[in-house]
Amino acid sequence: MITGKTNVFGIIGDPVEHSLSPAMHNAAFKKLGFDSIYVPFHVKAEELEAAMKGASAMGIKGLNITIPHKTEVIEYLDYLDITAGLIGAVNTIEFGENGMIGHNTDGIGAVRAIEEVMPVKDKKVVILGAGGAARAISFQMLLSGAEELVIANRTLEKALALKEDLVEKLDPKVKITDLGFPLKEELQNTDILINTTPIGMYPNVNQKPLVSSDMINEGLVVNDIVYNPIKTGLMEEAEKSGAQLVYGVKMLVYQGLEAFRIWTGIEPPVELFEKALMDELSSKIKL
Ligand SMILES: NC(=O)c1ccc[n+]([C@@H]2O[C@H](COP(=O)([O-])OP(=O)(O)OC[C@H]3O[C@@H](n4cnc5c(N)ncnc54)[C@H](OP(=O)(O)O)[C@@H]3O)[C@@H](O)[C@H]2O)c1
Repeated sequence: MITGKTNVFGIIGDPVEHSLSPAMHNAAFKKLGFDSIYVPFHVKAEELEAAMKGASAMGIKGLNITIPHKTEVIEYLDYLDITAGLIGAVNTIEFGENGMIGHNTDGIGAVRAIEEVMPVKDKKVVILGAGGAARAISFQMLLSGAEELVIANRTLEKALALKEDLVEKLDPKVKITDLGFPLKEELQNTDILINTTPIGMYPNVNQKPLVSSDMINEGLVVNDIVYNPIKTGLMEEAEKSGAQLVYGVKMLVYQGLEAFRIWTGIEPPVELFEKALMDELSSKIKL
């Protein structure tokens, strides 16, 4: 029952109706017996400042931030943790005694998903795409000890801009390439391949993946962060090659678990978040 003591958490975005986060967090609150609720809030860009001030004034306990507000919201926060500061984007806000603190759990979500099958420390990682998700994952991969990063993107200038930022802040071993032959060469001795482009995402499920089975070695870990459909064209190619598969839903689960831990100090069992997510996906979104 919702009372005057119920703690309110939520997610703000535009759009936000399709968010799967409420299902995960509310399932955990229920299971753990917390007097808390997690609500989606549809906030347009021009209302972001008012929404943040309002959230603080109304005693909201924690927020997730999704597209298109992940960068712009920083302006309204009091502090950023180190990772969010490096990435320059926030997906989780903690309402502390001294103000609003921004975190980014997207990258660690991807790392923890991959680490279910292989530690990232000292590994070579190829990332397809150079957008927002690639940026969060690139920084976190390096912070988690990856040895070498290759950013492969259609628009080379965007890959170069990301590389320059990574080099300036972390001084890592980073290469860039377009999606042609050099990518095939790079994949010969790569440990982990992550697709962060929307290729293959519903409704474009028949779009040709950027990497085909003949480019994938057995033993490569392949992670497509697209989660609708669960098994994308890239994952089908990876399966044919005997690669180890990490589905996009896992990143979603772990970024949520990390946010829950930041807000409550407790990490619920991963299976609890995963079941809530899969139930919601199968009822809400075309699989
Ligand atoms: N599983 C999760 O938890 C999770 C979390 C975040 C995002 N995602 C998914 O990740 C995907 C990307 O999100 P984002 O925020 O990073 O998007 P974004 O900032 O728009 O970046 C998209 C990237 O994909 C590339 N791209 C797009 N269409 C392409 C095409 N037809 N051929 C080649 N490259 C193409 C773009 O290349 P250019 O630079 O050349 O335009 C860009 O580098 C979305 O599908 C999103 O749903 C999943």
